[in-house]
Amino acid sequence: MPAEYYYTFDDILITPAYSDIESRQEIDTSVTFLGLPLKVPIISANMDYITGTKMIIAMHNLGALGILHRFAPWDDQIKMMQELYTKSIPIIFSVGIRDIKESLDHIKYIVQDLAIPIHGVCIDVAHGHHQKVASLIEMIKGSVDESISSLKVIAGNIATIDGVDFLYQSGADAVKVGIGAGSVCTTRTIAGVGVPQLSAILECAAFAEESNIPIIADGGIRHSGDVAKAIAAGANVVMIGNLFAGTEETPGETFFLNNKQFKRYRGQASFGSNGDRYVKEGIDGVVPAKGPVAPILGQIQAGLRSSMSYVGARTIDEFQIKAKFVEVSSHTLMENSTRVTEVILDAE
Ligand code: XMP
Repeated sequence: MPAEYYYTFDDILITPAYSDIESRQEIDTSVTFLGLPLKVPIISANMDYITGTKMIIAMHNLGALGILHRFAPWDDQIKMMQELYTKSIPIIFSVGIRDIKESLDHIKYIVQDLAIPIHGVCIDVAHGHHQKVASLIEMIKGSVDESISSLKVIAGNIATIDGVDFLYQSGADAVKVGIGAGSVCTTRTIAGVGVPQLSAILECAAFAEESNIPIIADGGIRHSGDVAKAIAAGANVVMIGNLFAGTEETPGETFFLNNKQFKRYRGQASFGSNGDRYVKEGIDGVVPAKGPVAPILGQIQAGLRSSMSYVGARTIDEFQIKAKFVEVSSHTLMENSTRVTEVILDAE
């Protein structure tokens, strides 16, 4: 049943509950996603200024996952996959649906001609509830070559139960949920289309659980608390762009503006990455350079652990059963935030 109201992360909080956990070290944030064991349920976004080979390797070494973006020339994408293959890192790469025959040819070329073992393919489109997405999934899953038909297929993005159902019926192995929630997205402003992310996750996850298909909560994460809320709402993993933008492992150079260091970060539907053939639904911008990604992922994991400890959950499964939400008023946002400026005093 569609909800009466649709909520986003700031509209709710997770309520604390009874716990017998003595140390946060008892808490296990690991999940298995499409057969891949992850220590922390995080995926770096398949965006051109977020996930190239360096980010994929870093995510892998830190127990998370990176999905290769599709916005580099095809030859460069091949080189990146060859590099990952040499390092024995599970590869998931992205394809679009502009020409689904070409996308299928790309998949076949990597898997059959180059014999690079691929774990999965992410069919990545702004509007995933689309006939061409279903056709491409069916072409992959219906292939007579088992090395193609056995590929894990992630499809998205959608934000409704009908959307998950559609992709599930088409044969997708995982679904990416999120329309317009991303930090560089302007879809909701330009097109007036979207679903508040927390409710989108709640509804899609409820359906997905029945069909046993994992969902990725994609976009709009600003703090570790949002990751905790997304997982508590039923997401199996959370996709992150902005929080990782500007880290050393992202593609692109660091440059100076007003004596401060920045890196680029842009929406994939911004003019910068799509040419001017489409209406712009993304921002092409810069973010401060942040250093390595490891401490950021560490903070996300620590925040998730903390959240789990507040509801007395030792595992992600337990967390999803035990976590309950309360709806909050907009004044709560003020109560949530610090009202004292932090000062670091010299150690005495
Ligand atoms: P965050 O908030 O983590 O979100 O930066 C990353 C996600 O944003 C989506 N994305 C877009 N959405 N226009 C959109 O409406 C765009 O140009 C765009 N580019 C990326 C995408 O789902 C990504 O993972």
